[in-house]
Amino acid sequence: MEETRQYSVVRVGVGMQWRDEILHALRVLGGAARYDELYLFIERTTERELSREWKATVRRTIEDHSSDSMNYRAADLFVHLDRGFWGIRGEPISPEFLEAREGAGTDEIVDMVLVREHWRRMPNRARFDPQAFTISHADSSSFIDEGLRAFFEYRQLGVADATSGKFGAHVIRAVPGEESPGEWHSHTLDFQMVYVTKGWVVFEYEEHGEHVLRIGSCVLQPPGIRHREVRHSEDMELIEITSPAEFPTHSRDAPV
Ligand SMILES: [Fe+2]
Repeated sequence: MEETRQYSVVRVGVGMQWRDEILHALRVLGGAARYDELYLFIERTTERELSREWKATVRRTIEDHSSDSMNYRAADLFVHLDRGFWGIRGEPISPEFLEAREGAGTDEIVDMVLVREHWRRMPNRARFDPQAFTISHADSSSFIDEGLRAFFEYRQLGVADATSGKFGAHVIRAVPGEESPGEWHSHTLDFQMVYVTKGWVVFEYEEHGEHVLRIGSCVLQPPGIRHREVRHSEDMELIEITSPAEFPTHSRDAPV
């Protein structure tokens, strides 16, 4: 549990845009913060090399992204609450946190957040790339037929965007009336896992033969394995997780 909570604070900075790092800092600081709190928080958690002008960059980034500012020019992300006091537009400010910071100094406020978030410096934290928080709901997203196969429809789960393409996750469902041509192929990727949530599907794998995957079946397809989709039920639905999100597919001869 503690490991998971660390990530919310720790994985920031490298490869991340300033506006995203500021949004993240404001969120962790309770939804709003004064410049001094923001600076101290960033100083203590960022992975980036801070230039001499970095505080001016923070101020400029906030002003560029706030319609409350004369310099407003990009997405309207920040709201001006008071002199040097900014929040995230459209997001509530935590009342408990506002109360807790009453009379507290900048150091105490930032300490309070870092303790609350179980933050501690990890020597190997640089290996984590930044990821955006993302949620996908079935009732507010849709399937599109622009995936790898015409006989399947795909619902993207937002993971590819949130991980800059490092991982992909989507729901695949059968297009009624469409059948798989059953071509042997392989993929060049690092990771591919499939979990069936509805109906059934028959896959054939090099050296492993045919398998009927049904509700609850899970397959790890090692990189490069030759395989083919033989047939599936009209109501078939499965989740596929890959790394990276996009990868080449190669037509292959049937294994002998
Ligand atoms: Fe495949």
